[in-house]
Amino acid sequence: MTEAARTPMDPADEVPLAPSGRDLFSKFVPLIAERQALLDTGVRDPFSLVMEKVHSPTRATINGKETILLGTYNYMGMTFDPDVVAAGKQALEDYGSGTTGSRVLNGTYQGHKECEEALKAYYGTRHAMVFSTGYQANLGLMSTIAGKEDYIILDADSHASIYDGCALGNAQIVRFRHNNVEDLEKRLRRLPTEGGRLVVLEGVYSMLGDIAPLKEMVAVAKRHRAMVAVDEAHGMGFFGTHGRGVFEEAGVEDDVDFVIGTFSKSVGTVGGFIVSNHPKFEVMRLVCRPYVFTASLPPSVVATAATSIRKLMHATEKRAHLWKNSKRLHDGLRQLGFDLATPEAQSAIIAILLPDQQITVTMWQALLEQGLYVNMARPPATPAGMYLLRCSLCADHSDEQVGQILGMFAAAGRATGVIS
Ligand SMILES: Cc1ncc(COP(=O)(O)O)c(C=O)c1O
Repeated sequence: MTEAARTPMDPADEVPLAPSGRDLFSKFVPLIAERQALLDTGVRDPFSLVMEKVHSPTRATINGKETILLGTYNYMGMTFDPDVVAAGKQALEDYGSGTTGSRVLNGTYQGHKECEEALKAYYGTRHAMVFSTGYQANLGLMSTIAGKEDYIILDADSHASIYDGCALGNAQIVRFRHNNVEDLEKRLRRLPTEGGRLVVLEGVYSMLGDIAPLKEMVAVAKRHRAMVAVDEAHGMGFFGTHGRGVFEEAGVEDDVDFVIGTFSKSVGTVGGFIVSNHPKFEVMRLVCRPYVFTASLPPSVVATAATSIRKLMHATEKRAHLWKNSKRLHDGLRQLGFDLATPEAQSAIIAILLPDQQITVTMWQALLEQGLYVNMARPPATPAGMYLLRCSLCADHSDEQVGQILGMFAAAGRATGVIS
């Protein structure tokens, strides 16, 4: 093995221990060995890529090469929006680099309130609460509102932050089969009558890019007296007339009790939120540990988020262009012969199914060498042990770029034998 192929996680790296000591990392030895075996075949590590320079929402320099980005969650291309960047710079000047405190102590600035006002206007809700990440928003909701007498009923393919929120709280957890309305109904029917119920759904499931049948699911949840939370991390910005998410498009806004979202995707920065019309929602600011026991977002971040959210309200043309891109890429990849996770473009994520890790990484690398970056996903992040190359489109991808992307897929797919 060459020095270059050795990594800080090399299984050969012995840790000297006291005679009776057990290396707590020993449980990871199989994973470390599997990863090293893959790298020894000569492929690059898909999980340690560095963006040397980022030129725009769709272009970066990677390994010294100008590369088209097709694996970011920058769906609406807001990261380089001149108004967004200017707002961040101004807030940095006016308020400094960070708040150094929790939202409930010294960490609520004018900008945090303005950001919550922008969210209330965007969603048309009475309440909005900004968290430091979307991960923490989910941790907060799941762990705070459902106690040990209560039930959280969730889709088996829920995001890690939903599962982790459940693990942090005391509620009893019931899972139903992914996107299966009958199974959801069956599980709800079997629950004891006492105890509260929270059904947790996602608008778009990010691994396969499929959407939830929210109309049917929310109706079932309400019939069984459950509150409903929908995570719109991958739907905000371009589903529904106002870009609120899949729940808006499905026409179930009045029956959804909480919408969870993130600033790290369409909004183009970092942060998370929950919006709600529940009259007691504001008590969350006192009892929700992932809100209370962490520092608030820097002023520059909330200023960029608020500016971006206000612009997204009117981004009708961008939404239309994103959908056009997504449909064209889905059609093009299907015609080339790739096996796709959804029968049609359901969101801005298009996932390509591949048989195993080796071919997935080989294909990923072939695309990168041509100048195209996509996401690779593997178990345990994926459902049913799948290996995926995930493309996520941006409203700023030009027609010409989509054409180039299809050309690169054709060449890499043929070179690696994935398509004939
Ligand atoms: C469905 C879903 N919820 C929540 C999150 C967490 O968002 P954040 O990046 O803001 O922590 C993600 C992030 O990937 C997500 O996909």
